Amino acid sequence: MNNNPTLSEAKDKGCFPIEKIKKLDTPFYYYDMDVLKKTVKAVKNEIKNYGYIEHYAVKANANKRILEFLAAEGFGADCVSGNEVKAAVNAGFPASKIVLAGVGKTDKEINLALDLNIFCFNVESLPELEIINSLAAKKGKQAQIALRINPNVDAHTHEYITTGLNENKFGFAISQLAETLNKLSYLKNVKLIGIHFHIGSQIEELEVFERLCIKVNEILGWFEDRGIKLEHVNVGGGLGVDYADPNGHPISDFKHFFEIYHKNLKLSEGQLLHFELGRSIVAQCGSLISKVTYVKEGETKKFAIVDAGMTDLIRPALYQAYHKIENISSELPEEKYDVVGPICESSDVFAKDYTLNKTQRGDLLALRTAGAYGEIMASQYNCRELPKVYFSDKI
Ligand SMILES: Cc1ncc(COP(=O)(O)O)c(C=O)c1O
Repeated sequence: MNNNPTLSEAKDKGCFPIEKIKKLDTPFYYYDMDVLKKTVKAVKNEIKNYGYIEHYAVKANANKRILEFLAAEGFGADCVSGNEVKAAVNAGFPASKIVLAGVGKTDKEINLALDLNIFCFNVESLPELEIINSLAAKKGKQAQIALRINPNVDAHTHEYITTGLNENKFGFAISQLAETLNKLSYLKNVKLIGIHFHIGSQIEELEVFERLCIKVNEILGWFEDRGIKLEHVNVGGGLGVDYADPNGHPISDFKHFFEIYHKNLKLSEGQLLHFELGRSIVAQCGSLISKVTYVKEGETKKFAIVDAGMTDLIRPALYQAYHKIENISSELPEEKYDVVGPICESSDVFAKDYTLNKTQRGDLLALRTAGAYGEIMASQYNCRELPKVYFSDKI
């Protein structure tokens, strides 16, 4: 894979086939299929020890080839819109392995999912429950549902990607469960098969998942006390990746992650545990490759102005997210730059005071760990083209 031995030996850089990629029109996402394959192998190796079920979170990256690969590897799909459900089906995920979540499912989306007979709706509110019931009744169907419960566990992550606190918009509060069970007793076109949680994303302190397990155990106990045995428990995704050191840690600590659930969650006989990992499956296989258009000398700093912008990778502008940046064309001594895009927004900044090998017009920069919430969040603001996509095994 590495066609450029000089660059592979460069200090702490990823391995890119530079001779091939320098001929491509930038900016583009570059997916290293080798990294994706190794990541999937690592997940499957751990998961098989416990018989857990993984529904890949399509929102992280819905690139057709990536979806097809994950479908062929036997993953289910966690979707949050009707179009994600369609993308999953088109990529080969069987409807029987698709779950549909989201606080604002429209009638159209619910009808689509009902027509396809998806595995389960992760329901987030009482009004939604009633609508699913009435739409299913019109079709003479019974929809399988799981209640998404907000466990009020702090994910200790960025406030925009924490979802399991009482103040967040997602799921049922624990205090609403009794009323919800009562309602379910006369909604005949929905069948409660499980409970669902997702407390946030990019969770790096793994003890957070232990706290989630404690809450889930309490909630399972609450259901059991009422004579309800749930077949399915879905604990969402959230496992973080190493944005600072993608070369040192290209694969998240799946072993420890699944072990935590195995040790802490008290599942009863026959109860199945489901996951919805997104970021930790696809983040490290993707890089955004961008060309330096200008190096501009400011009063106090230098700007490396690149041809990718927040339209191609919005995470730094949206959540002050860090992406490691490497100048994959240069081995010159290091200097500091603000790496900025061309978009007419002051927030169109990838990094400030960032150390790169001396950078010149025409150099290629790789923004690493961009496989999750990258390509899929791209927009055409400023009438820009969407970023192109290349795969390591097809260039
Ligand atoms: C309900 C749900 N499940 C799964 C995920 C995937 O999370 P992650 O990419 O952090 O694994 C998300 C993302 O926020 C989500 O909202």
